[in-house]
Amino acid sequence: MKFFIDTADVSEIQELAKTGMIDGVTTNPSLIAKTGQNFTEIIREICSIIDGPVSAEVTANDAPTMIKEGHKLAKISKNVVIKVPLTVNGLKTCKVLSDEGTMVNVTLCFSAAQAILAAKVGASYISPFVGRLDDIGLDGMDLISDIYNIYNNYPSFTTQILVASVRSPKHVVDAASIGADVITLPPSALRQLYNHPLTDNGLDLFLKDWAATGQSIL
Ligand code: E4P
Repeated sequence: MKFFIDTADVSEIQELAKTGMIDGVTTNPSLIAKTGQNFTEIIREICSIIDGPVSAEVTANDAPTMIKEGHKLAKISKNVVIKVPLTVNGLKTCKVLSDEGTMVNVTLCFSAAQAILAAKVGASYISPFVGRLDDIGLDGMDLISDIYNIYNNYPSFTTQILVASVRSPKHVVDAASIGADVITLPPSALRQLYNHPLTDNGLDLFLKDWAATGQSIL
């Protein structure tokens, strides 16, 4: 399973890249706005840190402008993935850009029917938002299972399932159990994966016992 990091905060990306666990980055207009910095510059900087796919989202609503924006963003670096919303214009844009050989991430997916359409137009990634479905009392992971099963019925569908809107380690474990290709995690959720109080307590005890021996490995 690939791990992407869901942030536009360059210092966070620099820090987390050092763990060796980050395969790519996803951003969205809200995350870019939070930085207060220039969109193009941020994406360029992220691409200089991360070799893997870096999603940059278009902000127009009509297909011709989305396509133009996609062309401009794709020029920033060869690992830029153009992110488009799951609207009819986003799907048209996905078809054009994918046919040109550009990677496209279709975002804001909330149903299996929408995911089928993204695969039809050649998306490299489909981003179902599990957390936002959970927020309205549904089970976001049911959508991941549905998409996984549907895509498996059609070997010609090459779209990867990129689990988005992730809130907790449980989302990660559930998505991995289903077999999702990629998960994108906010930095806080990634940290939650490796922090565990029992690990901290256990280590404290080991180190206390070790110190009492007076030995040193080096
Ligand atoms: C995905 O690419 C989105 O940026 C993201 O996962 C949205 O998550 P949110 O629902 O926590 O805003």
